[in-house]
Parts: sequence; structure tokens; C-alpha cells
Amino acid sequence: MWQAEIHVDLAAIRHNVARLNAATTAEVMAVVKGDGYGHGAVESARAALGGGASRLGVATIDEALQLRAAGITAPTLAWLVCPGMPRARALAADIELSAASPAELREVCDAAFVAGRPAGVHLKVDTGLGRGGARPERWLELVEAVAKAQSDGLVEVVGVWSHFVHTDRPHHPTNARQLAVFAEALDVVAATGLRPAVRHIANSAAALTLPASHFDLVRAGSAVYGLPPMPDRDFGLRPAMTVRARVAFAKRVPAGAGVSYGHTYVTREPTTLAVVPLGYGDGIPRVAGNAAHVWLGGARRTITGRVSMDQFVVDCGDDPVEPGDVVTLLGPGDMGEPTAEEWASILGTVSYEVVTNFGGRSRIRRTYG
Ligand SMILES: Cc1ncc(COP(=O)(O)O)c(C=O)c1O
Repeated sequence: MWQAEIHVDLAAIRHNVARLNAATTAEVMAVVKGDGYGHGAVESARAALGGGASRLGVATIDEALQLRAAGITAPTLAWLVCPGMPRARALAADIELSAASPAELREVCDAAFVAGRPAGVHLKVDTGLGRGGARPERWLELVEAVAKAQSDGLVEVVGVWSHFVHTDRPHHPTNARQLAVFAEALDVVAATGLRPAVRHIANSAAALTLPASHFDLVRAGSAVYGLPPMPDRDFGLRPAMTVRARVAFAKRVPAGAGVSYGHTYVTREPTTLAVVPLGYGDGIPRVAGNAAHVWLGGARRTITGRVSMDQFVVDCGDDPVEPGDVVTLLGPGDMGEPTAEEWASILGTVSYEVVTNFGGRSRIRRTYG
């Protein structure tokens, strides 16, 4: 018996990666950071590789090592690493690292020396996003340093990369400007005699709609999990995550009954309240109270009153709802249940956040099929 579960449709992940492959001649890197956007990093990675991805991308070394510990050997890039983190361990596990400054390159070279092997490096240029990456005016300095490190046998330049500002609007003029900056950065690299195997800037939306951004590799996350990268367009993707729980308790209450903390909801008529054993401790944002919908007893219903740490309440009217009944919070939408996208638009966020919130949740069992 189970109380709450996240079901991940691995066939959907395979299908989605196949859709990405059909949209590009470039390699596909499946982004499985954030516990595979809440879907489970290892299982998602295996499914994505099964669907035709050739590389994996994560933020941290720990995330990459988790994949290696599970026996996944595909080329894997970890792109967000603080000074002093175990880069040598990463290199020993054949994990590729990013470098965006001479200081970061030094860390990578030191790790290569300790690991006794050259580091596979992806050089990151900031084409406009304004997060990580070398500014264009510092790019030559970085490229020359890495060329020297490569001739010293400490690194092997595998990639050159960047990331878009408008990830859901690949045709935004800023993205075109970023592509121009990226092209200049690649020219500098070529002029230095370096020949990176993979040049990459495209995320899911760009992979599906902007071929000029594909280069040798696209880095796709949201599309892998079936989240439409541009909600107004149908790319034939299938959402992979379904979140459901069982009703823990149900009772009749009279009109005028306050529900949950702060009594932000008061019943208007005699009604049945169902208690669902999921709360903000499980990834349901507190602001979902009196806002987001769930599917219960064959109908959509609004979460009633405040979401608390472990539970929320649903007003079911006169419908017969019993403890043990299944309530579906979100899924592909086939039955009528809300999608992650619908949760996101009600909560004023993006579907990425809705699903990633379910990553690493100890009180929800995860099943795969
Ligand atoms: C650096 C980087 N590349 C690629 C991706 C994948 O983006 P998307 O989920 O839009 O495909 C992300 C996700 O945020 C990212 O941080």
C-alpha cells in the first residue's frame, strides 16, 4: 500500500528524446540535474540514453558521481562547481568539467595533475545571460590559457558552450545577438588551433525551433520530461510525471466550517472534505492553497484553504469520496487531471519549478514504468 507516489513514464522520456533527435542532426545531451527535474536522475538518464541521447548534463559533481555510481558511463558534463570541490574525483570518474576563467581553469589543471589524466573541458562564454561564463573581452585570455594547458597535456578541450537568455523564446532578438557573440568566440577558439568536438548553446526550445543554434550538440531538459518548452505550441512531447496520493481522511462538515490554517476557506453548504497527505514538505507550494486544482472522484477540484507541511484539504461537495481514493495532482492530462504547465500558470511560475520541487522527496515513493 502507498500513500503518495510520483509515477515516471520512462517510455515518455524515450519518446521525447526521439522527438528531439528527429528535430536536429546534432547530438542530444539530456539534462538530468535537479534529480532529473524531479523525475529521478538515474532512471531519467538511462531512459534518455535509451531514447537516443548521447551525453548527459548536470550542474554539480555530486550529481555526476551519482550517475557514475549507478553504472552510467555516457559522457557527462558537470557545469557548476565551486572552488575546492572534488574535481580530481570527477576526472577519475571520467566526468567533464566546465571552465570560464583562468582561475577555474587552474583548478581543473590542478585536478588533472592529481588525477593523473587530462581533464575533458568545456569552455564557457557568457554571450549575454550574465550568469557564469567568460565575458567576451576576457575570452582570448581564457582560450590562450587553455591552449597552453592542452599542450601541457593537462586538459583536452571537448566543448565550447553558452546558454540563452530567453530560453522559452528562441526567436527573441537577444538570442540572435547571443548567437553572433558565440560565433565570434568560436572563431577565436579556431584561430588558436583548438578543435572542440562539441559546440553547444541550444536548450529544449531552441533544439525544437531554432536549427541555427544547434551546432554539434543541443542540451535539452524540459523537453526530455515532456514539458512543452513553448506552451502555445505542440511538439508531440509526452509529460513523464504523474503525482498522486490517496485520501487519508474524509468527513462531512456543516455550512460555515473553516478549513485549515487561517480559515482562508469557509464552507458555504454542508459538504465532504477530503484530507490529502501531501504538503509543502513534499513539494506542493503553499501558495497552491485556494488556487491549484487536483483530480479527485472524476472531477477537477480546487485545493481548499492553506496547504500545510504535510497535508491539504479538498472540498468535494456531495460527491462520494472515501479514505483511500486516489487523487491525481498533476499528470499528462489524459484523464482530465491538471498538467504541470497548468499548475505553473496558476502559481505564476514555470513548469520546471513545479516538477523539480518533487525531486528527492522522502515521503513520496517513486515508481517507473
Ligand atoms: C546550462 C543549461 N543548459 C541546458 C538546460 C536545459 O534547458 P531546458 O530545460 O530549457 O531544455 C539548462 C536548464 O536550466 C541549463 O541550466
